[in-house]
Parts: sequence; C-alpha cells; structure tokens
Amino acid sequence: MRQRRFYDCPLNEKLLYTAFLLLMGIGYLMALVYLYTSHEGHDRKAGLSMVDIVDTYYGNRSGTRLEAAIRGPMAGNIQKPEDRHVIVAWLKSGTPEQDYRTTVRPILERSCLQCHSPASGLKIPDLSTYAGIRKVANVDTGESLHTLMKLSHIHLFGIGLVALGIGLVFRLASVGDWFKATLMVLPFLAIFVDILAWFLTKWDPVYAYTVVVAGALLGLTWAGQILISLYQLWFLKAPDRTNSVN
Ligand code: HEC
Repeated sequence: MRQRRFYDCPLNEKLLYTAFLLLMGIGYLMALVYLYTSHEGHDRKAGLSMVDIVDTYYGNRSGTRLEAAIRGPMAGNIQKPEDRHVIVAWLKSGTPEQDYRTTVRPILERSCLQCHSPASGLKIPDLSTYAGIRKVANVDTGESLHTLMKLSHIHLFGIGLVALGIGLVFRLASVGDWFKATLMVLPFLAIFVDILAWFLTKWDPVYAYTVVVAGALLGLTWAGQILISLYQLWFLKAPDRTNSVN
C-alpha cells in the first residue's frame, strides 16, 4: 500500500498540522530569546558568549572577593605571609565554619577586625561573623546540581513530546527515507546530548561547546522538519498518476 502523504490529507488535517507547527516554531523562537536574555551579560559584555555559558553551568571560579582583597588592596594589612596561605587554604577547602572559628578568626582579629566589624562604623564587609565573611568568601560554581536536575527532567519530557509531535507530522513528507529518519531522530539525540553537556560543563568548562552545538542541531533539525512540512502541506501537488497507469 502506498504511504500516506501531505497531499492525501483533508483540509482540516492540514490546518491542524499547520497550526501545530507554527505554534511550536514560535515556541522555539521564544525559547531562544529567553535563553539569550537570561544568560547574556554574565561576563559584563553585551551578547551571549562562551563565557556566559560557562558561567551558567560551571560558574566563575576564578576566585572570591576575599582572596582578591588579600592579594590586592588589603594585602598590606596581613601581618604574616603565612596568614594569607591559611585564609586561601580555608577558601579552597569550602569555607567550613569550624575552621573559621579555630584558624581564620584569630588572624582576622589581629589584622582586619579593627575595620571589618560593625563596631568600626565603616560600610565594609563584616568579617567578625561567619555569616558576614561568607558573603565575600563564596565561590560561584554556577547552577546547582539540584536546579540542573529540575530543569533537565522538565526539558526531557517537554522537548521529547514536541519532537514526537513534529516528527509525526513530518512522517507524511515526501522526502528520502534516510533523510526523513535522520531528521526525525536527531532532535531526540540532540536534546539528550545537550542536557548531558550541562552536567559535563559543571565538571569541565570545555563542554560548553557541546551545549551550543547540540542546541544548534536541535534548532536546525526542527526548522528543517517544520519548513519542509509547511511547504509540502500547501504547495506540493499529488504526482500525476494517470501516466504511470498507462
Ligand atoms: C584600616 C582599615 C582596614 C583594615 C585593617 C582591613 N581592611 Fe579590608 N577594607 C577596608 C576598607 C575601607 C574597604 C573598602 C574599600 C576598598 O574596597 O578598598 C575594605 C574592603 C575589603 C574587602 C571587600 C573588597 C570588595 O571586593 O569589595 C575585603 C574582602 C577586605 N577588605 C578584607 C580585609 C581583610 C581580610 C583584612 C585583614 C587582613 C582587611 N580587609 C583589613 C579597610 C580595612
């Protein structure tokens, strides 16, 4: 039996497919704009760059305000050079509260708290409490694993269903079998790789490139299916079969 094609569809079915494809296309464009505006400018430069993507998932781990201060403007207040090593080691070990009390606090008392406590009246970070020092001591490690997990299951379900819907419509297109199968399956692969790459980027920033390539692949394969479908829905005429019968 001959496969069903777009030109075999009655008008109501054509309208249904067209409305669905247009809505999904608009949805995709909205998602792009949202992505751009929510990630742009992390690196304080206009536009979306690789650094923005790395900052989102990996974070900006180049240092903390506290480390920058004791290596820079506050360096002169450090009395013994090993005090700086102790503070940096504490930062690297993840700022445990216990060590703040036992090793860091005594150094601060010697060198910093005459200015950096509420008693001084200065509007500068309060280093006399753990909560206060945490504000200048946290390393930015990007989106938390918890948030990524939440986002990824929503994306997997949502995008999987959209890919299924677009693929079901596109199966009526008159194109080569392999081309059709490839365009149908690639979005599923792309979204899987994209989401996997979020987690990998958290671990190593080089995977930011994978996020971008997989995202682009998803966009291209969807655009291909949507545009071919819309075109064939309304412009492809059924081939003239009278010739082949003769
Ligand atoms: C004589 C007073 C004084 C002492 C002592 C002092 N600071 Fe400061 N500190 C300041 C002032 C004033 C500022 C705000 C102006 C600036 O950022 O340069 C500041 C700013 C800072 C900041 C914030 C930098 C930022 O990113 O905004 C940190 C962190 C800091 N100091 C850490 C320290 C540490 C650690 C010590 C002890 C080793 C110390 N300071 C000793 C006066 C002091």
